[in-house]
Amino acid sequence: MNLTEKEVLSLLKAEGKELAALYKQADQVRQENVGDEVYLRGILEVSNYCKKSCNYCGIRSKIKNITRYRMDTTEIIQACKDMERNKMTTVVIQGGEDAKLSKEYIGELIRKIKKETKLAITLSLGDQPKDTLIHWKNCGADRYLIRYESSDPDLFAKAHPDDDLTTRLTFIKTLQEIGIQAGSGFLIGIPGQTIEGLAKEILFCSSLNLDMIGIGPFIPHPDTPFGIESNPFDKEVFFKVISIMRLLNPKAHIPSTTAFDAIQPNGRNLLLQRGANVFMPNATPQKYRKFYQLYPNKPCIDESGDDCAKCVQGRIVSIGRKIGTDQGHSLLAKEKK
Ligand code: 5AD
Ligand code: FES
Repeated sequence: MNLTEKEVLSLLKAEGKELAALYKQADQVRQENVGDEVYLRGILEVSNYCKKSCNYCGIRSKIKNITRYRMDTTEIIQACKDMERNKMTTVVIQGGEDAKLSKEYIGELIRKIKKETKLAITLSLGDQPKDTLIHWKNCGADRYLIRYESSDPDLFAKAHPDDDLTTRLTFIKTLQEIGIQAGSGFLIGIPGQTIEGLAKEILFCSSLNLDMIGIGPFIPHPDTPFGIESNPFDKEVFFKVISIMRLLNPKAHIPSTTAFDAIQPNGRNLLLQRGANVFMPNATPQKYRKFYQLYPNKPCIDESGDDCAKCVQGRIVSIGRKIGTDQGHSLLAKEKK
């Protein structure tokens, strides 16, 4: 479906019957294009060391009062095996930009995970040089996830003292060039965003032809410079954004991102019924979770990997959906072949 900026804006302002129709249509488009399977991709937060200081982020390097940790290879492999036992078909290796997670180390880790499990591998390790990406792809990485956060140059610059928008967007193009499945997205309500800017962002994101679209609301973290800001939109807008993204990107994988549970109980269930088709349960060992709070009120901090896996399976059944049993690769990638 194509929508003009004016139409997107009007959907963002939808209320009552119109809003119900938007949610219903997004759910239908999801059902017709990506089916009833919900793919489980376990997020393993392998390190909270980060050399950067994004102004919204709860693990930015300038925060000194959190314990920094880095999982070791044995713990990572064990967590991957637990994920497999818990019906997850992808591991998402996520971390801050940690120099110790070197090209060689991650390369070896990918090989090991591939040898010891059948999991697909998504990496989410921030900005990296092209040759590193190629190496990781050659070692067996299937996908890479990096949000561009905002395509508005002023808002991007205000939020990212250590990053450059052009570099970030080039990075996403590089992923597509080298043939690794690319996931990206933005923060809804990044400080300074207007509703018109949000409509533009939705269309920009759709123009990137992403295999996976990961979007969530900005939630102010008190220990960051953006802790004094507030999200300019009400929470209904957050859901509308995902529904509109589904209309514009029928074949993309769209996860029900963790932050939706932070803004509303069972928010992730609701989102799965409004366009999303992927769930990314937290698979990090319980003892590390409290140190990876990118934003306040992050769910599942006191749970274990097994707790979340059991909970997620129940949630999916409770809304009448099935757990995807294959790896849930990109449907765009299949079309491209
Ligand atoms: N609120 C919401 N999302 C956040 N992220 C980081 N900090 C916050 C916050 N305060 C998101 C970023 C990043 C992803 C891993 O977490 O979009 O890409
Ligand atoms: Fe973690 Fe429900 S998903 S407890």
